[in-house]
Amino acid sequence: MKRIALLGATGSIGRQAIEVIEANPGLELVAASSGSTPIDGLAALTQTGGDPTELLERAQPDVVLNAVVGFAGLVPTMWALEHGVTLALANKESLVAAGELAIAAHKRGQGELIPVDSEHSALFQCAQLGEPESLVLTASGGPFRGRTRDELQNVTPDEALAHPTWSMGPKITVDSATLANKGLEIIEAHFLFDIGYDCIDVVIHPTSIVHGLVRFRDGASIAHLGYPDMRVPISYALTYPDRAATPVPPLDLRTLEFHEPDTETFRMLALAREAGEKGGTYPCAYNAANEVAVQAFLDGRIGFLEIATAVEDVLARVDGAPARNLDELVEADRHARELVAVA
Ligand SMILES: NC(=O)c1ccc[n+]([C@@H]2O[C@H](COP(=O)([O-])OP(=O)(O)OC[C@H]3O[C@@H](n4cnc5c(N)ncnc54)[C@H](OP(=O)(O)O)[C@@H]3O)[C@@H](O)[C@H]2O)c1
Repeated sequence: MKRIALLGATGSIGRQAIEVIEANPGLELVAASSGSTPIDGLAALTQTGGDPTELLERAQPDVVLNAVVGFAGLVPTMWALEHGVTLALANKESLVAAGELAIAAHKRGQGELIPVDSEHSALFQCAQLGEPESLVLTASGGPFRGRTRDELQNVTPDEALAHPTWSMGPKITVDSATLANKGLEIIEAHFLFDIGYDCIDVVIHPTSIVHGLVRFRDGASIAHLGYPDMRVPISYALTYPDRAATPVPPLDLRTLEFHEPDTETFRMLALAREAGEKGGTYPCAYNAANEVAVQAFLDGRIGFLEIATAVEDVLARVDGAPARNLDELVEADRHARELVAVA
């Protein structure tokens, strides 16, 4: 029996994780948390808001599934990595912001770090077959694929929230529309697979059937395919190294289509790569500024294109000095948020 602590239990990933856990007699939910929505009767230990450290210490889980959204996921990520408890990581923002510190904690803790993000779950599975020479992340392109900057000028939050292939929480859905999500994923892949940014490509693949591809040095490439359904990577991470059944139908191969991403229109992808290559706390600042700007867009305070403008402006103003510890990282996150020039 694997004992699971689920953080972010009321969200899109959280609810699907509960479905996966309830369907698998080998998994037991021993703790659950949310941000502000109360949770009743899910597990013996539940918590709404605040620092989840005590909850985790009391629950003593075998696996922490971190499905919190945003930088708020930092504490459970670091707790699991430091303690060598298996971390099933959906919360990409914590790894992007705290990359070096998180990987150092992972090395000290010696636990498993299993990505839940579908692309990284795919790459993780492909990378079991050998040392990756380079990686390809696929992106659906979001609801605004193929549009020009002019056509994006007046798009609304409702339009940005209508993702063509995935049903997800609001923040990641807007990130998919700006391509910031793929930008965050480039940085996530860099840290997860210890691979240079010049060895991580992004291609637009509108149907989201191919989730990721690993190229090996002998010229062989292994791709991971499946319908876009987060229950598959959640189940993989929770039952690893086994593979449990899910209700997802077997894949019926259709035409596979791929395009180059338009990084001029979707600046957030190029900005993430730049922030990742500069290193230090630039990825943390990118993430922080994006979180603030996405919320401002969802609240109707700024336009869609201003998300990238705001993030670019913050990146130009921070010094990006590496964080030597978590206090410095939290300060870099706070400073970047403060610099975001939105009303
Ligand atoms: N959704 C997907 O398909 C998908 C796919 C790949 C990766 N991810 C990643 O998974 C994470 C979760 O995404 P999601 O789409 O499930 O988000 P979501 O639906 O917005 O859910 C977010 C969860 O985090 C909780 N939360 C928010 N702020 C918190 C705080 N300060 N402290 C503790 N908990 C807090 C929320 O609780 P309340 O309900 O109380 O607000 C909710 O349970 C994100 O990092 C996202 O990038 C998601």
